[in-house]
Amino acid sequence: MARAFNFNAGPAAIPLTVLQQAAEQFVDYQGAGMSIMEMSHRSALYEAVNNEAQSLLRELFGVPDNYQVLFLQGGASTQFAMLPMNLLKAGRPAAYVKTGAWADKAIKEANLIGETTVAASTESDKYMRMPNLSEIVVPRNASYLHLTSNETIGGTQFHEFPDTGDIPLVADMSSDILSRPIDVSKFGVIYAGAQKNLGPSGVTVVIIRDDLVAQSPKDIPAMFRYDTHAKSSSLYNTPPSFSVYMVSLVLNWIKANGGVAQLEQYNRDKTKLIYDAIDQSGGFYRGAAQSQSRSFMNITFRLGSEELEKMFVKQSEAEGFVGLKGHRDVGGLRASTYNAVPLESCQALAQFMAEFQKRNG
Ligand SMILES: Cc1ncc(COP(=O)(O)O)c(C=O)c1O
Repeated sequence: MARAFNFNAGPAAIPLTVLQQAAEQFVDYQGAGMSIMEMSHRSALYEAVNNEAQSLLRELFGVPDNYQVLFLQGGASTQFAMLPMNLLKAGRPAAYVKTGAWADKAIKEANLIGETTVAASTESDKYMRMPNLSEIVVPRNASYLHLTSNETIGGTQFHEFPDTGDIPLVADMSSDILSRPIDVSKFGVIYAGAQKNLGPSGVTVVIIRDDLVAQSPKDIPAMFRYDTHAKSSSLYNTPPSFSVYMVSLVLNWIKANGGVAQLEQYNRDKTKLIYDAIDQSGGFYRGAAQSQSRSFMNITFRLGSEELEKMFVKQSEAEGFVGLKGHRDVGGLRASTYNAVPLESCQALAQFMAEFQKRNG
């Protein structure tokens, strides 16, 4: 079987060994005579999976004891609404850093719930950079400050985070969670859909500090309150059990490969191959994001014309590459190099880029 060079933006590559392990266990999970999908979420076997996924995430990401790790449904898009429903207080605006399409969606949802303010925006630079920390202005009475640690579409990433003191810092880490070590204690809430760095779609990870869980209002429906899920260890209702199981396998894979610090180095080595191919092309390829804000997850770049970009996509597909077309909102090209994308795929892409340039430069 030939595996594709998978640069999809999400759902995205999953480690081959994880897929093989899941295939082995697919029909009969640990001798139960049934698949994990056919089993009660109240069974001891599933409870062990849920607990293992939680404890591995704590261990690998360094989540302090005074935080809850929740496995929810509805994707990061649901968190755009659930977050303000729980934490946006009357008379205390929620501050948002506006850095692209995803931040913009988060702001629009929060606007339906309460008052928001833009703490910094890079819209005038077409979202091709992240703001410097000094540009971020947070009102002293803000309910929280929200930022998008990695803008998947623009290909920009925060490389340092603001210190917000008593104001909870909230991050949408959908496209870079567990790709690098983070000081979780700087954040009040971190959330991420699993389908880029953690496994398949269907489960959303929320890491939230206990004092913020305690603020869940009692007058919103139970499913939308963080405390509902925290109290029941994410088993309040039927969870996306297969997705959580897959996340547990991916977390085991991360651990076996040396943990998050190792992954960060691996991700940097991978992206260097492609950024070098861009920077050393004499202008044939142009990086879309400003260099100080370049993402180590989503590499966005352009060619001299849309015609050439179309040709690049077509020829790359013929050679086994998948997912290199840029997002429909911004065009161009994009290579997503999440945790599970092997170095070999990036080597192959750098080589393809050099050959394409030779043919068309
Ligand atoms: C940064 C970011 N936030 C939010 C989302 C939306 O996530 P979901 O599809 O899980 O709702 C995405 C999806 O690609 C994303 O990249």
